Amino acid sequence: MGFPIYRPRRLRASENLCAMICETDLSVKDLIYPVFVVPGKNVKREIESLPGNYHWSVDRITKIAEKVVKLGIPAIILFGVPSYKDATGSSAWDMKEPVQQACKAIKKKFPDLVIITDLCLCEYTDHGHCGVFDGCSVDNDKTLPLLSKVALSHVKAGADIIAPSNMMDGYVQEIRGTLDKAGFKDIPIMAYSAKYASAYYGPFRDAADSAPSKGDRKSYQMDPANSDEALREVELDIEEGADIIMVKPAMAFLDIVRRVHDTFNLPLCVYNVSGEYAMVKAAAEKSWIDEKRIVIETLTGFKRAGAKMIITYHALDAAKWLGAK
Ligand code: PBG
Ligand code: ZN
Repeated sequence: MGFPIYRPRRLRASENLCAMICETDLSVKDLIYPVFVVPGKNVKREIESLPGNYHWSVDRITKIAEKVVKLGIPAIILFGVPSYKDATGSSAWDMKEPVQQACKAIKKKFPDLVIITDLCLCEYTDHGHCGVFDGCSVDNDKTLPLLSKVALSHVKAGADIIAPSNMMDGYVQEIRGTLDKAGFKDIPIMAYSAKYASAYYGPFRDAADSAPSKGDRKSYQMDPANSDEALREVELDIEEGADIIMVKPAMAFLDIVRRVHDTFNLPLCVYNVSGEYAMVKAAAEKSWIDEKRIVIETLTGFKRAGAKMIITYHALDAAKWLGAK
């Protein structure tokens, strides 16, 4: 059936007609807001490379949580900057450190807000790698038990979902086993299953002070050229007990999002990462693009590709725009 019998424009004639045939819903409930918690008191410091996002100290952390709750955003993901670093990243499982203290403070005030904690070691190690580093490579199996320690400290502090992001082999199985043994069998794991070695993480590494001092992450994060491998990574994480899977970054990897969605039947999260955010903000500042339209179009694209939830630094703005629609 071709032209002139069929005319696609018939169904685009009015806003209501468009709404009737609209295939993708984007809602505030799809959004997860990243929050950076730092040592110190009375800190609310804008992150230069992530304009509109801040470093928060624990004593002010409920302010941002309150904002998130009021906007109707269901979840945050917490990242920590520790007060000390060492070779194994032991501040990552220290109950007195910012992430653990922030979990406690937020849970007490906003028990319904879902707290996801990013679980990695790069922010906590003095060498900046995501695991135990011997000077040239990261030791997978020596790193696993450390992840268990961090996971336990997070759930004890009140985290609702653990999101391991360091791409070690067997990390989901390790954490699942530890949580189950400790009686936390109902805590879901959101696995950063297909996480690429991406240049788009630049602003985050400034924000979290987590850039490796030597070398790169290519021996554990994926090569952006690979797609079949992403399916193998996701499959492994599901077999090991992941409850939610993730593709990261998002914009340059939407084909991966689509393939993972079509292959596996598990809630899929995308991470709209720091570099993606920074590019939009920089272009918007120059008035080269319409920020609101670009952001909504981009987030809608993630949903259309198959994502169920979106971690994004745009969450607060997007929630306002979606609410006011
Ligand atoms: C920890 C981690 C990173 C990001 C999330 N968790 C950085 C990295 O792998 O270097 C990046 C997030 C972003 O760029 O917004 N490993
Ligand atoms: Zn890391």
